[in-house]
Amino acid sequence: MNLTTRYMGLSLKSPLVPSASPLSEDIDNMRRMEDAGASAIVMHSLFEEQFMDDEGVKFNHHPMTHNSDKNSFTLNYQPESIRFRVDPQEYLNHIRKAKAIVDIPIIASLNGTSLGGWTNYARLIELAGADALELNIYNVPTDMSLTGTQLEQNYIDILDAVKSVVSIPVAVKLSPYFTNMANMAKRLDDAGANALVLFNRFYQPDINLKKLQVEPNIILSEPQAKRLPMRWIAILYGQIYANLAATSGIHKGHDVVKMLLAGADVTMICSALLLHGIDYLRTIESELCEWMDKHEFASVEGMKGILSQKNCANPSAFERVQYMRSLSIYKPEWAHTQDTSYYFG
Ligand SMILES: Cc1cc2nc3c(=O)[nH]c(=O)nc-3n(C[C@H](O)[C@H](O)[C@H](O)COP(=O)(O)O)c2cc1C
Repeated sequence: MNLTTRYMGLSLKSPLVPSASPLSEDIDNMRRMEDAGASAIVMHSLFEEQFMDDEGVKFNHHPMTHNSDKNSFTLNYQPESIRFRVDPQEYLNHIRKAKAIVDIPIIASLNGTSLGGWTNYARLIELAGADALELNIYNVPTDMSLTGTQLEQNYIDILDAVKSVVSIPVAVKLSPYFTNMANMAKRLDDAGANALVLFNRFYQPDINLKKLQVEPNIILSEPQAKRLPMRWIAILYGQIYANLAATSGIHKGHDVVKMLLAGADVTMICSALLLHGIDYLRTIESELCEWMDKHEFASVEGMKGILSQKNCANPSAFERVQYMRSLSIYKPEWAHTQDTSYYFG
């Protein structure tokens, strides 16, 4: 059985890639991921906010902040005091150590929202030995004067800035919250993104009623979270040059299978590894192999996109008509069952 896949020009032994998480902060974990079958590792992110001046001066964060000094790694603002897990220099050392210890590709992760000198750091990441870079643009715009057009252009400008300083492939990890996701995907593709990583999970703060405080609150994903990226991967498959990476809600071998059938080139896993441990990758791989065996698929390449919008028997399943159908056939008694086979008659 051939599990190999190509992702951003990299030849990977399988589609199973641990996505950015605190697990990669420990070099020993990276070795364990490789042993458990990971075909590449996306490192935890280095955040734009980590490139702040040493003065500790606090500036207002504006998502469209520009810093024209292309050689500077210093930003002209500092957000509220946050303790970061690693500093930029440590991050580069971590890449070097990881490259010395594992044989699989290392994908570094830069995370930010504004156009500024921090994007030049991509070059140092490349020099440290990263095989590719994932650019996570995690933007929660709250400025009412910013238009959607400006915000979308900001994504393209950040990608351009990073692409102009590196020759390694660059993936963009983004949210689904665009007026026209398909258009945004096409624009990033035209701007040279080597892959799109769909989608960022947005961590919503909660309100603590005892303390009467707003608190950050990370909730690990559940398998249902895969539906949104799966739909968009299915829609985009075969329409853009960039590779497609699925992230969110991939907990079992069957989730991997579904993402591949939709058109993903790789499937990224985070919550399931945090919940069950790194060795759980072996379980996911054997579930994938078992399914392929049972359904007589000899290769992952042969599975890719066969149920994408372009190739499936019912392309409208990904569009409004299916939404109407789902609502109109639903029966209240189904609320008590997790069995969704009724949708398919
Ligand atoms: C504790 C935690 C830390 C994360 N850290 C990062 C990060 O540093 N950079 C990043 O791009 N994504 C980060 N993510 C997002 C994951 O890489 C992944 O995209 C997301 O959790 C959805 O995948 P999942 O459903 O398998 O968890 C983090 C997620 C969790 C739960």
